[in-house]
Amino acid sequence: MAEVVFAGATKTFQPGSAPAVDGLDLTVAPGEFMVLVGPSGSGKTTALRMLAGLEEVDAGEILIDGRDVTDVPPRDRDVAMVFQNYALYPHMSVADNIAFGLKLAHVRKPERTKRVQEAAAMLGLSELLDRKPSQLSGGQRQRVAMGRAIVREPKVFLMDEPLSNLDAKLRVQTRTEIAALQARLGITTVYVTHDQVEAMTMGHRVAVMRDGRLQQCDTPRKLYEQPCNAFVAGFIGSPAMNILKVPVAADGVVKWGTQAVRLPEDARAGVASTGVDHVLLGLRPEALTLATDGLAGTVGLVEELGADAFAEVSADVGGQHKLVVRVDARRPPGRGDVVHLRAIDAEAHVFHPTSEERLGGRRRQEPRHRGCAPRSSSNRMRWRARWSGSPTCGNDCVGYATRSTGWSSSHEGRPTTRPSTGATSASLSSACLPP
Ligand SMILES: Nc1ncnc2c1ncn2[C@@H]1O[C@H](COP(=O)(O)OP(=O)(O)OP(=O)(O)O)[C@@H](O)[C@H]1O
Ligand SMILES: [Mg+2]
Repeated sequence: MAEVVFAGATKTFQPGSAPAVDGLDLTVAPGEFMVLVGPSGSGKTTALRMLAGLEEVDAGEILIDGRDVTDVPPRDRDVAMVFQNYALYPHMSVADNIAFGLKLAHVRKPERTKRVQEAAAMLGLSELLDRKPSQLSGGQRQRVAMGRAIVREPKVFLMDEPLSNLDAKLRVQTRTEIAALQARLGITTVYVTHDQVEAMTMGHRVAVMRDGRLQQCDTPRKLYEQPCNAFVAGFIGSPAMNILKVPVAADGVVKWGTQAVRLPEDARAGVASTGVDHVLLGLRPEALTLATDGLAGTVGLVEELGADAFAEVSADVGGQHKLVVRVDARRPPGRGDVVHLRAIDAEAHVFHPTSEERLGGRRRQEPRHRGCAPRSSSNRMRWRARWSGSPTCGNDCVGYATRSTGWSSSHEGRPTTRPSTGATSASLSSACLPP
């Protein structure tokens, strides 16, 4: 099982344009299932391809199992990638597709056959080994692609939206299978998706990306309960959190329309310390209830999902807003009904009105050494050389872990000794580390 470290990894495709991946600091623990999630164009695939060695890294470093692989070609990284389109060879049988990587690696035929049969048995493909990909369903093709990755017995699995071609039912089934398989094999996995439900159900931890930058990396529950900013709050959770700009009243109370929310203690302290007169108030659909009194609104759309139902309620909250409320699935209100809403105070989230950072509770983790990382490959080499000799950069930042120095980085400017295991995680104190 291998640890994967992105240390300030940066990729810019076109000079002068914003980086596709910007100073990514992320440590994936050995055996961990890490999901990268974010909207289209947020840099997920680029980050994965940088780890696979398919994109050059402009600045920062990538380590696998303590080894700096930043400039190592893909074939020497010991990673196996499952692509969105599976990339199966149509003229080859399932068995040959699965064995292809082993053949390239000059693994002898008896060993190849043994590994293919083992993988096929694990994936329920034993009966299909002689078929061509065109004779398989989408889910079966997906499993062949997985099989091809599994037989390589890599240190790291990389998967880029491997389920996106499947229908909804098969997606749910296959995501469970992949999660179970990963748990059984214990291979460190980095999995990319833009589907937050997939991310939350599969990942041990989930890293949320936006515009090439890591926003937050945490367990699914922590992401849901303590989003570090309004973006993460709105992205994680379905239906999305209601976010309203509302005035702060005295004494840790914010007003939303005719109603007031008494903020949780930590949020109250956060609001007081920043002295803002408005905040972004976040209320998840389940933090709103229908009551006999409260904020009056009119029901629009009602979504009935079986176990749950969600009503869209139009109400005056300093301007007309549509609020999504979880309602009793057995007795949902009807379209056009006038209802009254109340908020559960303890479940309120508050964010700064301009920076959109969380106020109170856990804050966003600041990226380390921004401004320190060089912006080109040649710079990177110079920068590495510089760091090998000096523990600080003069900007209160400390360089990334290097094998030669045996120390690593922290934003406080305190170099810490790299553990004797060669692991970098203990020293990358302000990056996203395994819990
Ligand atoms: N080869 C390339 N040349 C130029 N720009 C690129 C290239 N590949 C990606 N980009 C740009 O880099 C940014 C990040 O792209 P990336 O493919 O990593 O996003 P993504 O998060 O995987 O999105 P999606 O969910 O749509 O797959 C985008 O703005 C994209 O246009
Ligand atoms: Mg992508």
